[in-house]
Amino acid sequence: MSYVIAICHQKGGVAKTTTTLGLGAAFVERGVETLVVDLDPQANLTFNIGLEPGNAPFSAAEILTGEAAPARAAVESSLPGMDIIPSNASMLDIGRRMYQMPNYEFLLRRALEDTAMAEYAVVLLDCPPSVGPLTINALTAADLLIIPTQCEYYSIQALPDMFELVNVIRDRTNPPLTYRLLVTMFDGRGKFHATMLEQLRGYFKDGLLHTTIGFDTKLREAQAAGSPITIHAPLSRGASQYRQLAEELSPYVSAKSHVQTA
Ligand SMILES: Nc1ncnc2c1ncn2[C@@H]1O[C@H](COP(=O)(O)OP(=O)(O)OP(=O)(O)O)[C@@H](O)[C@H]1O
Ligand SMILES: [Mg+2]
Repeated sequence: MSYVIAICHQKGGVAKTTTTLGLGAAFVERGVETLVVDLDPQANLTFNIGLEPGNAPFSAAEILTGEAAPARAAVESSLPGMDIIPSNASMLDIGRRMYQMPNYEFLLRRALEDTAMAEYAVVLLDCPPSVGPLTINALTAADLLIIPTQCEYYSIQALPDMFELVNVIRDRTNPPLTYRLLVTMFDGRGKFHATMLEQLRGYFKDGLLHTTIGFDTKLREAQAAGSPITIHAPLSRGASQYRQLAEELSPYVSAKSHVQTA
């Protein structure tokens, strides 16, 4: 089975989508077959990989309702080795439709258990900036939750709500869920971010990933160009930091495949 990573924070604009794409592209460079899933009705990930949301025959909505098997909904992205299950307009009311389905929290988990999904070593789930049924499905399906956060007051202030959500998910649908914080858009020029980072590290210790993603306008340009950072600006700081993140997470991925082959 694949190693499933949900990238989630109810706070908007903290680099969830940028991290999904940057990390996915960095895994692909390491030869890891990767699937990214756009669970956000805003469809930013779908746009950012250069796809027109309306063009794909299926979206994540149809794999949740069971109308399409995930292997049918997955399409090749512009990056060989990375497939995407896109988002489109049918995602807008999927939350409401899901609530009416029995055990709706497990719909994504069951879909990803499809044997055809085993070809992907890693599945990355890009979540919307809200705590609704899509996010609950992602956290129920995930082995690891990455919570991207800026070293900014409002981003950090929203963390306790995320931890509360993790506790609810562990209690009800996914007891082994692990989480790690990832600092994004770090600006090392002043003292403010450095001080916040030091406090986060002191408090969360190994719960905070060692890799930090710095502020890099190349990541913005890559988004506008519809291309992953490793292709758009392979020598940029953003590309090398997402490579470092993939390296840091590789033992997590191999630990799962070793357990399954043992
Ligand atoms: N390290 C970075 N340096 C500079 N800009 C960045 C960085 N990471 C992300 N951005 C920019 O910040 C903005 C928000 O990023 P992104 O869309 O990835 O956030 P998000 O958490 O997915 O947002 P939403 O909550 O709306 O889904 C985008 O314009 C993106 O290009
Ligand atoms: Mg996003």
